[in-house]
Amino acid sequence: MNGSNRPGPNILITGTPGVGKSTMCRLLAERSGLTWLEVSKLAIENKCLEEYDEVYRCPVLDEDKLLDGMEPAMQEGGKIVDYHGAEFFPERWFDIVFVLRADNTILYDRLVARGYTGKKLEDNIDCEIFQTILEEAKASYRDEIVHELQSNTPEEMEQNVNRICQWLEQWKIDNK
Ligand SMILES: Nc1ncnc2c1ncn2[C@@H]1O[C@H](COP(=O)(O)OP(=O)(O)O)[C@@H](O)[C@H]1O
Ligand SMILES: [Mg+2]
Repeated sequence: MNGSNRPGPNILITGTPGVGKSTMCRLLAERSGLTWLEVSKLAIENKCLEEYDEVYRCPVLDEDKLLDGMEPAMQEGGKIVDYHGAEFFPERWFDIVFVLRADNTILYDRLVARGYTGKKLEDNIDCEIFQTILEEAKASYRDEIVHELQSNTPEEMEQNVNRICQWLEQWKIDNK
């Protein structure tokens, strides 16, 4: 079952910016006792951001440095990794992958509230419309471990956390 020999499972929570990853991960970490790793914050803390991309108005990520820094924690297991991308992590890191989704109009309002405008706003809405992260996750991990979760309302978030906690309990039984 668990080919990795990790004492606990690792979960990837991914999706377009604004779909609710961080909000859900905070709750999931509280409920499950797993450790939430917010990759965007780790990138800053571990000094993995390089020169500035003028078009996207954001710094460029040194992926190798970031992954090397995360490796020991991932080998320990019991991590919830939160990131708006799915393809550059090693496939072996994750036991399950959840792609959060939100309706375009809801996502639009959340991103505007966050101060996104212009190309950055449009690109993120397009990313959700074209299911870019879902496709990325399906291309990067076995189909059976990739799951889509709607995250439009607090009720949906609650259901999603419950579902992941149930999966976790089953994992513990299967991997005793
Ligand atoms: N399931 C949800 N229902 C209602 N609002 C949500 C939900 N998930 C997140 N939000 C709100 O949407 C905004 C973006 O959420 P956040 O967790 O920061 O997204 P992400 O980490 O994916 O960028 C926040 O203001 C948050 O309160
Ligand atoms: Mg976030």
